Amino acid sequence: MSDFLPGLEGVAATKSAISFIDGEKGLLSYRGYSLETLAANSSFEETTLLLLDGELPSAKELDGFTKKLRRHYRIKYHIREMMHHFPATGHPMDMLQTAVSSLGMFYPGTECLTDADICEDLNYVRNMTVNIIASMAPLVAMWEHMRQGYDPIEPREDLSVAENLLYMFTGKEPDPMLAKIMDVCLILHAEHTLNASTFSALVAGSTLATPYSVISGAIGTLSGPLHGGANSRVVDMLKEIGSADNAEAWVDNALANKEVIWGMGHREYKVKDPRATILHKLVTELIEDRGSSLDSTFETAMKVEEVCKDRLGHKGVYPNVDFYSGILYAEMGIPADQFTALFAVARSAGWLAHWREQISDNRIYRPTQIYIGSETREYVSVSDRV
Ligand code: COA
Repeated sequence: MSDFLPGLEGVAATKSAISFIDGEKGLLSYRGYSLETLAANSSFEETTLLLLDGELPSAKELDGFTKKLRRHYRIKYHIREMMHHFPATGHPMDMLQTAVSSLGMFYPGTECLTDADICEDLNYVRNMTVNIIASMAPLVAMWEHMRQGYDPIEPREDLSVAENLLYMFTGKEPDPMLAKIMDVCLILHAEHTLNASTFSALVAGSTLATPYSVISGAIGTLSGPLHGGANSRVVDMLKEIGSADNAEAWVDNALANKEVIWGMGHREYKVKDPRATILHKLVTELIEDRGSSLDSTFETAMKVEEVCKDRLGHKGVYPNVDFYSGILYAEMGIPADQFTALFAVARSAGWLAHWREQISDNRIYRPTQIYIGSETREYVSVSDRV
């Protein structure tokens, strides 16, 4: 009889060369490059190519990939028309899942996924990958206007993914510092080993489903409150605390009532999440740049971190990626219910890197179960049942 491990905790379900976490040391690397190095030197476009192909691209490769991505920012008219009929109250993650799934009907071309052999058509793989990654941010930004009853803002091919995302959200020339911060946020969220949504992408990919089905499944998995979504709760929590002066009493009261402090703790990390460290630095730089014009939630957050370090540090509970990302997105004017959709925009790079790795050495996922139901029994016709 097989052992049953709830949630497959600790079970190796694949081999992967894409990313690595050392939770004791607080390290995360993509393809062997530390996240700190990538955040300081790379761009979302370059990091995406690194995740997909395994190597840093040459200048020519990066330029070609960037141009291809930008040519795919525009969303087909029919998809836009379909989105006009979505309810304005629809959650951005439901919108994104539906829109990405519908992209698959407009861009079929699944020839190389029709037999059980590996897909060797790298053009097909690259085209699908580009189309999905390029479409994600425009879809999210378009929805922000459409759900308020306005036409969406057209994308601009002269802008990077991060710049265009901010431009399509706000309609204003992107602020260079906020665009850089958005770019780093995309890098930080692009990949994180075998989490629930990535696992769902692997399972769907292993059946040779189209990449649109793979990604729409992963978006649905990310949408659950146990996976994406804690960053908007951090913002709510900080608003409730109100000011740095209230932080200590608020945290102590929450802990006394056995409540969770949002944005604190991570199953993989027993020290401060390296992504939180980078985001914290960005917050500090933004404060230095903008001074007192910044929202006081930054100060409250830093005080909450200080108090939590004292109260929870001995349990290995420190800020995770969600602690500072939400307040940065809020500073960019992005509504809280869009935060998880931004996470999906970035993570599409990691999902597709894993999809490609899966189909290049594929075996369909078919785990077993431990049956705990009835023995074989006789069927009783409905008229004889008591
Ligand atoms: N607030 C208060 N206490 C926390 C905490 C938090 N955010 N996270 C962990 N703890 C405490 C637990 O109560 C537990 O205390 P105990 O040993 O006295 O019972 C101890 O720290 C260990 O926590 P545990 O629940 O075993 O850690 P985990 O690895 O199972 O949980 C999370 C990880 C992410 C589920 C958990 O830290 C959490 O719920 N965090 C808040 C939600 C969040 O920000 N999620 C986004 C993750 S990226």
